[in-house]
Amino acid sequence: MSNLQINIRQILDFISPEEIHSQQDRITEIYHSLFNKTGKGNDFLGWIDLPFGLSGHVIEDIEKAAEQIRGKAELFVVIGIGGSYLGARAVNDALSHHFAQLLRPDKAPHIVYAGHNISEDYLADLLDLLDRKDYAIAVISKSGTTTEPAIAFRIIREHLEGKYGKQEARQRIIAITDKEKGALKQLAMDENYTSFIVPDDVGGRYSVLTPVGLLPVAVAGYDINALLQGAQQMQKIIRDNIRNMHDNPVSLYAAARNSLYKKKRLIEIMVNYEPGLFYFTEWWKQLYGESEGKEQKGIFPAGVSFTTDLHSMGQYIQDGERHLFETVISVNNPKRKLSIPFDEQNLDKLNYISGKRIIEVNHMAELGTRLAHIEGNVPNIRISIPEINENSLGQMIYFFEMACAVSGYILDVNPFDQPGVEAYKNNMFALLGKPGFEGATKAINKKIKEN
Ligand code: PA5
Repeated sequence: MSNLQINIRQILDFISPEEIHSQQDRITEIYHSLFNKTGKGNDFLGWIDLPFGLSGHVIEDIEKAAEQIRGKAELFVVIGIGGSYLGARAVNDALSHHFAQLLRPDKAPHIVYAGHNISEDYLADLLDLLDRKDYAIAVISKSGTTTEPAIAFRIIREHLEGKYGKQEARQRIIAITDKEKGALKQLAMDENYTSFIVPDDVGGRYSVLTPVGLLPVAVAGYDINALLQGAQQMQKIIRDNIRNMHDNPVSLYAAARNSLYKKKRLIEIMVNYEPGLFYFTEWWKQLYGESEGKEQKGIFPAGVSFTTDLHSMGQYIQDGERHLFETVISVNNPKRKLSIPFDEQNLDKLNYISGKRIIEVNHMAELGTRLAHIEGNVPNIRISIPEINENSLGQMIYFFEMACAVSGYILDVNPFDQPGVEAYKNNMFALLGKPGFEGATKAINKKIKEN
């Protein structure tokens, strides 16, 4: 049964139900090409089977490696970028205590991230922390050649070896990479690091349910089986309702956003009301941006955290250009309980809500905002989950992955490649004088002079 519910009633002032439902046949066809692996980018459809497809021993090996790390490290550095970073961070941040880093470590190591920027200050500050902490690392790169994580790994590995010696450092490094190619694979074999494989047919941004996401989540102490079960439940709902949009949240979401896009709603804003979901939105932005934004097409995925951003972006959303729509992630129940106290003096005039749970106020802020935005001509899609836990995150991950693939096929692009990300890399390599880029270096220097 799905814990995730989708409500598109509030886009029906903008799009007719007939228009949404007229897409059923095309979407059914798309499911067939996805499940039968016949569509564009069909060599990257391994993610479809991941919820059921990871063999038991891979899960056991991940849990074993995580347990070893948990036994020896108070800090775990996860090195990776893009799809090799955001999935783990999305899940861990959603599940963890908001102030975990400042609380004394309990049984789980704190997780910190590196390799997702090229900031000298960030890395130097991280080394300050690593000087003081007992730590281990995971280096995650499918290609094994990405510049950002490679720089971070080189620096952190040197620190690790200096701190523990080469032999012990080897016991504190886990490599997650391709099964046979790439520099990281070579190094992992030479140094005998514990290693996990990113399957050939799973691209970075669809890899959260492989060791790429599962290992850091297990190290943080969360239940990776429950995460996979959530994804399994969502896959079953989709498969059981390939022709029945009414009971298939993925079809509804893909059809709704496609109809809105055709009406020139070019920006989709994912809205959360729980700060723990900030990185879930970042994961979703990467998934949709890199999958759909090509051939001069695609919805621009943006994100806001409410009510924080109601005091900034809220103005634009209410009153600015009408080229956007919102997808609101609504959480029914918090993990904790807290009520607003009564105050004799009532100087802040808050006694009218004293005794109420904070969640009640948050929900009224959410409802009030939704009504205001709809009134302001912003179509709203609402996705609700009972609470933030491994199961609902697993459901959401698979839901958004499948909806992204379906949406990409509706747009007639290949949702599994990313040719556009090469442009900056080629310029950067040319500017840095990377061997093999000599021609490009000359051309770019000429271009710089001319400008
Ligand atoms: O989704 C993708 O494919 C990308 O975002 C990659 O995950 C990202 O570029 C990192 O690549 P790699 O894992 O090869 O270092």
